[in-house]
Amino acid sequence: MAASMQLVSLPLQMPDISATHQEYRSRSLSFLSSKTKPVTVSLAASTSETSPSIPEKPEIELEFIGPQAGGDGSYPVDKASAVSGDKLLRTIMLDNKIELYATYGKVMNCGGGGSCGTCIVEIIDGKDFLNERTSTELKYLKKATFALNLQKPQSWRLACQTIVGNKENSGKVVVQRLPQWKK
Ligand code: FES
Repeated sequence: MAASMQLVSLPLQMPDISATHQEYRSRSLSFLSSKTKPVTVSLAASTSETSPSIPEKPEIELEFIGPQAGGDGSYPVDKASAVSGDKLLRTIMLDNKIELYATYGKVMNCGGGGSCGTCIVEIIDGKDFLNERTSTELKYLKKATFALNLQKPQSWRLACQTIVGNKENSGKVVVQRLPQWKK
């Protein structure tokens, strides 16, 4: 028996490449929505159990006492806080718009390089939360006190050389601003 074979031409349909991305997206979404059940995933429930809580970094509280008493006889006090061991005292004061320099220092300061001696502060309380004096600091503190004809109190620091905190401690530091002008 002779086999006969018949060729049939099947129309090939190319995808409509003129369709926009948005059209394809909406087609696939409608297909899914008609054939699949909606699945709800609660992200809040899955993340709250798996992600560990981030421990808060220790902080140093700061109080800055002004050099001149107000009309009522009390000295103005500014407050700020900083992550322990993160910033220099100068940076904290400038960031918080707390006046650091006297008139001359505002214009002539070295920008925190430790070479002008105009960023003097007195540490009233909490010196243990600060770094040790640097050799640069000792040198320019001496120079500044000589220029101002003052004794050099052990509690004076250059704010641009003073690191607040050591990354692990927390506590309170009280700073006298412009101690050379205190009245
Ligand atoms: S800003 Fe110059 S010594 Fe501190």
